[in-house]
Amino acid sequence: MDGFAGMRKVASRCSMAEEDDDLDLARLLDKPKVNIERQRSFDERSHSELSINIRAIDGFESMYSPGGMRSGLNTPAWSAKNSFETHPAIAEAWEALRRSVVYFRGQRVGTIAAFDHASEEVLNYDQVFVRDFVPSALAFLMNGEPEIVKNFLLKTLLLQGWEKKVDRFQLGAGVMPASFKVLHDPHREVDTIVADFGESAIGRVAPVDSGFWWIILLRAYTKSTGDLSLAETPECQKGMRLILTLCLSEGFDTFPTLLCADGCSMIDRRMGVYGYPIEIQALFFMALRCALIMLKHDAEGKECVELIVKRLHALSYHMRSYFWIDFQQLNDIYRFKTEEYSHTAVNKFNVIPNSIPEWVFDFMPNRGGYFVGNVSPARMDFRWFALGNCVAILSSLATPEQSMAIMDLIEARWEELIGEMPMKITYPALEGHEWMIVTGYDPKNTRWSYHNGGSWPVLLWLLTAACIKTGRPQIARRAIELAESRLLKDAWPEYYDGTLGRFIGKQARKFQTWSIAGYLVAKMMLEDPSHLGMISLEEDKAMKPLIKRSTSWTR
Ligand code: GLC
Repeated sequence: MDGFAGMRKVASRCSMAEEDDDLDLARLLDKPKVNIERQRSFDERSHSELSINIRAIDGFESMYSPGGMRSGLNTPAWSAKNSFETHPAIAEAWEALRRSVVYFRGQRVGTIAAFDHASEEVLNYDQVFVRDFVPSALAFLMNGEPEIVKNFLLKTLLLQGWEKKVDRFQLGAGVMPASFKVLHDPHREVDTIVADFGESAIGRVAPVDSGFWWIILLRAYTKSTGDLSLAETPECQKGMRLILTLCLSEGFDTFPTLLCADGCSMIDRRMGVYGYPIEIQALFFMALRCALIMLKHDAEGKECVELIVKRLHALSYHMRSYFWIDFQQLNDIYRFKTEEYSHTAVNKFNVIPNSIPEWVFDFMPNRGGYFVGNVSPARMDFRWFALGNCVAILSSLATPEQSMAIMDLIEARWEELIGEMPMKITYPALEGHEWMIVTGYDPKNTRWSYHNGGSWPVLLWLLTAACIKTGRPQIARRAIELAESRLLKDAWPEYYDGTLGRFIGKQARKFQTWSIAGYLVAKMMLEDPSHLGMISLEEDKAMKPLIKRSTSWTR
């Protein structure tokens, strides 16, 4: 858990900035409200209506719609009444989710990370985290309540405009906050906001995932409501460009993947995920594709669009070729020669076969595969990471074959990855000496706990979405049943511990909002799979023919 010390120090500066921000917010919110009852979905609108975006949509935005259903079209308010199976947890979850809503000057702008009164230590769980709000936002969108999502998108966009500094060093303009907190002053009757861009976080790392989630959420909002006007505002267009400019600039990179510090995403402590972590690469890919759909091809957007197209091609090639592992590929790496030079090298990153950890040989099923955690010079992190692999399926970074293989792996390794509580954030846990070296003796990330092999209920929504997309809802059903039998009874813990995820996590918060929202989203998606369109992108045929390794890769 990253801290938020020093928050008060910046409060006054921020509250002044807030006054101006609020005018902007009011202006932006002044746009005519969208009647979602009457709105047609993004897909349904005629090509002429979408003329600005149509080039980008072509080949990108044909939605997967099982049974011909469409997302966002008169999305019904979701109630226990039309549920495929009512469960007492559903009503309780909605109540708990609503309790976590945060207001700013009378408007709903987000949800706090955890509403855990029993816990003596609040740390920063009383804030609205960008990544944590995503499942809340999806739940509200699926329930026909888009206003809170729109307010959140605009609020965080204004925060992006703040000056961001760690000590004397200024962060890039596009950085989105990890979290923000609304301070209520009962005497002056004013609300002010303070935000954290990493300057208060443990390790002082900026959240690379926040900006990507922001873009992904903007598209989910657009897709769900059919309201194109928000994404088309100059403010949102600029916000997207700023986020992506941080990632698309040229430099010393020889890989199209994004180089990151440890702790820059959901796993926000040192866990050996520095380098090119799968979670960030998958989110980056998805955000690029979402932005491509929404960015205007005008004078300002054109260059960005061109850079995105180029990057997407290189990124998908790199990820599909070098991050992908299955039985065959593992066997190839196992037989790699080392010290190869020049263009004919098969072992391009000089991975030393002896560095392959023993567990992978047992873990790898005959059928199935996954994207490994990280690939960089002489280093392959073979650990499984759930979020990155699910987002790879949803964004179609994974080819249809790879998506199927990931689901095969989950089925084949059910006990390891799902156990008694879906699902493991990463597998396996780091233990002993390796834990000491890689985590720096982190007492919160001991083996099979928290980020180090803990089980996180929030991942249920991503798993469910991936299951629906690959046409394997029965896997999601099984996982949801497992979660359902515990979550309400255990008061919605943040995470579970143990090789099977049987124990409520050592330091887990109760009433963790994304555990609650994740469950609701999973239930709603399974009941009405057309919701999937909000958070899923069809395969882009133009990116297709590159999966097969170059001939130099064959044995
Ligand atoms: C922890 C998690 C992080 C989450 C935050 C708030 O720090 O690691 O992913 O955003 O708690 O719930």
